[in-house]
Amino acid sequence: MSFNFTGKTVVVTGAAQGIGQAIAYAFAKHGASVFVCDIDENLLQETVKKCGGTTQGRQVDVTNQQAVKAFIQEVGSVDILVNCAGGVRGQEGKPIESITVDEWRALFEVNTDSTFWCSQAVAPLMKEKGFGRIINISSGAGLGISLTGIQAYASSKAAQIGLTRQLAHELGPYGITVNSIAPGFVRSNPSSEKQWQKFGEEKQKQILDSIAMRRLGKAEDIANGVLFFASDASSWITGQILSIDGGK
Ligand SMILES: NC(=O)c1ccc[n+]([C@@H]2O[C@H](COP(=O)([O-])OP(=O)(O)OC[C@H]3O[C@@H](n4cnc5c(N)ncnc54)[C@H](O)[C@@H]3O)[C@@H](O)[C@H]2O)c1
Repeated sequence: MSFNFTGKTVVVTGAAQGIGQAIAYAFAKHGASVFVCDIDENLLQETVKKCGGTTQGRQVDVTNQQAVKAFIQEVGSVDILVNCAGGVRGQEGKPIESITVDEWRALFEVNTDSTFWCSQAVAPLMKEKGFGRIINISSGAGLGISLTGIQAYASSKAAQIGLTRQLAHELGPYGITVNSIAPGFVRSNPSSEKQWQKFGEEKQKQILDSIAMRRLGKAEDIANGVLFFASDASSWITGQILSIDGGK
């Protein structure tokens, strides 16, 4: 399948590194006009440099509704939105009794609220145009359980999946599709690398043996799925969750 996104404006959140960076790069390579945002401004500049061309980067905290609104207003009419910002915010799995209100809420803010704020910001102009693609990066943790053991991570990703289905129905009549990709474990950044090392050799082998393809994913494997959901080839596909995890 060959992709061409010439003339399309794409926004990728959480694009300073890892999966978001690979998605931004894939769109830039296929001709799109790309806007990337992240809370980490320095790292984001590396993505801008890597993507080259007309790619622009802005420091945005996607948990802040007003900041998101201002960013999208600056971009203008968005054709394709990829909600990739998210993760575990440096948290580690611990027993239910020790979870604080702030820890619980922080993961909902970054994984669920941000998806809502960004979708809310792009929807009006997408509706006016009668075209749009929203692609949410969820997680296998939202469909099953999280290897990290972090309750709020699994729950907030499951909530993001629910939001995907609901928005697909609300926005479908306007020519807007809303889909999600649920990645399996990808060693895409320092925190997933730390998690992988923490598993130890035996658990690492167990994880690899449980994957049909017997390998971990790469950020590019996830980006390929995003390109498909953004392309004309998926114009009658909405509200779907695609697991890209090497087969479970
Ligand atoms: N790596 C994996 O194994 C894996 C598996 C399943 C799902 N995911 C999901 O894929 C997405 C990308 O993951 P990744 O592994 O590339 O993680 P990552 O940490 O490399 O990327 C997430 C990016 O989001 C940014 N971010 C965090 N909070 C933000 C905020 N408030 N505003 C703006 N940007 C913010 C971070 O600075 C970071 O650059 C996440 O949503 C993650 O939950 C990752």
